[in-house]
Amino acid sequence: MDAQQLLLNRHSNPRLSEPAPNAEQLQLILQAGLRAPDHAMLKPYEFVVAQQQGLNRLGDIFYAAASANGEQGQALARARLLPTRAPMVITVIAKVKAHPKVPALEQHITAGCALLQMQQMAQALGLGGIWRTGSYARDPLVRQALGVDGDDEIVGFLYLGTPQKSLTPSTPKAVSDYCRLL
Ligand SMILES: Cc1cc2nc3c(=O)[nH]c(=O)nc-3n(C[C@H](O)[C@H](O)[C@H](O)COP(=O)(O)O)c2cc1C
Repeated sequence: MDAQQLLLNRHSNPRLSEPAPNAEQLQLILQAGLRAPDHAMLKPYEFVVAQQQGLNRLGDIFYAAASANGEQGQALARARLLPTRAPMVITVIAKVKAHPKVPALEQHITAGCALLQMQQMAQALGLGGIWRTGSYARDPLVRQALGVDGDDEIVGFLYLGTPQKSLTPSTPKAVSDYCRLL
């Protein structure tokens, strides 16, 4: 896929089915993540890949969080099923390292860039993806279960799979609405 077209047409796809990225595609996706811009080369992230039983384990974590938050009935049952909306979910965690010149914010941004890089690679491979967060990304129980503490953050859950139907990106916006000259 042409690089300009990929960048101009990046889009999310919430309707994702099997197959998940295969082993070769997953390597490319993760390698793309590792190419995120990174002040002082701290590699301040961790990618937690879930598929098959891993999706169930992530669902169990969401379920436990929902239960601890007092959810009941359908809302509680839904929590467990959230990760199964795609055949693969990569949780991207910003793992913040102490550094005299690189504040936590910059490390969070690097992890976010890594997630975007992975989404772009998935699209380049003909796969689909969507970046999600929601309350579980900030939930104390989810954080603890995934080994996220201190300034670490779950920057997102990247849902990946095969698009059920191809989507076109939304119409381009006027650059002038978001840009000014100094
Ligand atoms: C940090 C972040 C968190 C997001 N969380 C969610 C989410 O929890 N649920 C959701 O439907 N979309 C979420 N989105 C938005 C989608 O990823 C997507 O960007 C949006 O639906 C617009 O579609 P597009 O990427 O095709 O332009 C999030 C985006 C970002 C950058």
